[in-house]
Amino acid sequence: MTVSTELDPDNIPTHVAVIMDGNGRWAQKRGLPRPIGHKQGIGSVQDIVRTAGELGVKFLTLYAFSTENWNRPASEVQALMGLLKNFLQSELKTISANNVSLRCLGQRQRLPAEVRDVLEHAINQTADNSGLILNLALSYGGRNEIVRAIRQISEKCRAGLLDPAEIDDQLVAEHLDTAGQPDPDLLIRTGGESRLSNFLLWQLSYAELYITETLWPDFRKNEFISALADFQKRQRRFGKTSNQVG
Ligand code: FPP
Repeated sequence: MTVSTELDPDNIPTHVAVIMDGNGRWAQKRGLPRPIGHKQGIGSVQDIVRTAGELGVKFLTLYAFSTENWNRPASEVQALMGLLKNFLQSELKTISANNVSLRCLGQRQRLPAEVRDVLEHAINQTADNSGLILNLALSYGGRNEIVRAIRQISEKCRAGLLDPAEIDDQLVAEHLDTAGQPDPDLLIRTGGESRLSNFLLWQLSYAELYITETLWPDFRKNEFISALADFQKRQRRFGKTSNQVG
């Protein structure tokens, strides 16, 4: 295992979430079609999944396709779905060999059947792996996730299984796609924009934000280590004073 000496092994974020932005710009800068940028971005996905596992990150959540991304030109949506399917098929062996457990956040029923099939196969095949949990956010939107949770909770109230007075933070969290997982400690956004873009709106409440100008296809192992090094310099106060947290 190669752990960088730059990092404190006792302060590795448990959960890292990533907005992988800048694939289109990476391609356009080179006069190439946007899907080539997405294809190149897969190399970064492979690199970051491997590095996160090596460094001892326990949960990695990648924003691969948002609910809003359905509004992109059909040819780009098609290209992304094709890349996703190929990735899931070709990476399953490596993912399994590295003890990674694959999960999906979002409305997977909206995905084309052939993508959903390979996704569900990969999720089932890796369900018992005990290493890194890799959440792929696919057809995911934070508001949609919260709306789905509210509907489920409301149904339980209507059926008399739940008293509205019992609804608290923990109960809401248990009805999100990330149920049972800790909230992200660190959010990385590549491509330089300073916004959340409807990603993990509930779960990111206390995440440290790391925004880099680096475009996703150029974001590799060393950039990931730099993001973690920056995280390790932060003092996380969770609403308390700096004296209280020492
Ligand atoms: C944002 O870049 C990126 C996406 C919408 C898709 C991310 C997808 C991948 C990295 C490849 C497939 C993913 C997996 C997990 C196999 P953008 O197109 O918005 O870039 P821009 O801001 O430069 O236009």
